[in-house]
Amino acid sequence: MKAYRASILWFAPHSEGPARALFEEDGLLLIGPNAQGRQVVQAVGAWRDLGGQYPGVTVEHLPGRIIAPGFVDMHIHYPQTHVIGSPADGLLPWLEHYTFPEEKRFSAPEYSAQAATFFIAELLRNGVTTALTFATSHTESVNALFTEARAHSMRLITGLCLMDRHAPTDLLNQPSAPGRADGTEQSLLETEALIQRWHGQGRLGYAITPRFAPTCTDAQLRGAGDLAARYPDVWIQSHVAENKDEIAWARELFPQSRSYLATYDDFGLMRQRSIYAHCIHFDDDDRALMRDTGAAAAISPTSNLFLGSGFFDYAGADRVGFQYGLASDVGGGTSFSPFHTMLGAYYVGREGQTKQGLSLSPQHLWWQHTAGAARALGLEGVVGNLLPGCEADFVVLNPQATPLMARKTSRAASLDELLFSLIVLGDDRLVERTVISQAF
Ligand code: GUN
Ligand code: ZN
Repeated sequence: MKAYRASILWFAPHSEGPARALFEEDGLLLIGPNAQGRQVVQAVGAWRDLGGQYPGVTVEHLPGRIIAPGFVDMHIHYPQTHVIGSPADGLLPWLEHYTFPEEKRFSAPEYSAQAATFFIAELLRNGVTTALTFATSHTESVNALFTEARAHSMRLITGLCLMDRHAPTDLLNQPSAPGRADGTEQSLLETEALIQRWHGQGRLGYAITPRFAPTCTDAQLRGAGDLAARYPDVWIQSHVAENKDEIAWARELFPQSRSYLATYDDFGLMRQRSIYAHCIHFDDDDRALMRDTGAAAAISPTSNLFLGSGFFDYAGADRVGFQYGLASDVGGGTSFSPFHTMLGAYYVGREGQTKQGLSLSPQHLWWQHTAGAARALGLEGVVGNLLPGCEADFVVLNPQATPLMARKTSRAASLDELLFSLIVLGDDRLVERTVISQAF
């Protein structure tokens, strides 16, 4: 057992109302092993109530610091770290000119391994302790990332990128030895082998990963849907309704489906633990399909602003009632920092406000990147919060990290003012330490 004394931020259970932050100025967080030997939160609350209850337990006192749940990034591309900041006219030229050429490099195992090492270190430096991430269409890229995440005991979900058409030939899923499986069949065999090798190993999870409908044949989407039915607790991740040209292309390729989103449903790819990035250009039938299937949206504001894709419609999502959380979408997204992503989401919400009378509160922004994202991933009560029983992934924030942050946060007269100051001014300098739950 170990205890920390600091200011502590966490969230009320969702059943007590959405996105309600709890804060103890002088708090205690007690960490200890659960029945499986994994470090989880044993108690959280005010120092004055809990401080005397655990004699003999070592207490680390962190005056002036804030302990908060580790951030959950619902959608990121580990092979796109180098693609950040590559300007293009829009999604499709960006994929063609920057993203696909970079992803080709991951056919070399050494390239994948060094990229995985950098990527995990960068997530942790920014306070991200859980991530659902794309890899490339090369099996080695998946193995490299799982291997690195396991070394850190990090909760990470990834999978082989399925793409068997409409991309450069050497980025398409490759056939096996001549005369055996073609690229499509091989991609599905490899997906199943990777599920069996990695899913549920420690804190690792597998995601069936059709890149997006335009780069997958009917046969590949059907095969992915079959796997999703046979392995109900693996995740599914893809992209949808991000960009007008992309949508027109998807509609041309799958005219029989009611909408771009419905294409995924038609192939059995919408259920709980299905995470769709972007979800910008939806109608209410799409929103109802998200709600009724239990799928969730990974909102990626810095990517949507950078690529000029559009603005996620928060009011529409809340009116119909489907689940969502925040994501960096590096390298379409411009930053690994959850603070930059939360600020981007605020800008997107402001755009909505002018049309719909909506503004996102700082508590709601923070929730979307922690407890809300965990809930959308089907990991409520596991990560993204510091309620008793949650895995002990947390960050130690230093609000005095820069002169401006110190000056601004010292004037905060309420929790909302404090959180909003951190969201607007924060970045990796704010994250003094990232603690990952270990197992013994
Ligand atoms: N749609 C298909 N692939 C991608 C990708 O790599 N990034 C983004 N933002 N959208 C996509
Ligand atoms: Zn993406």
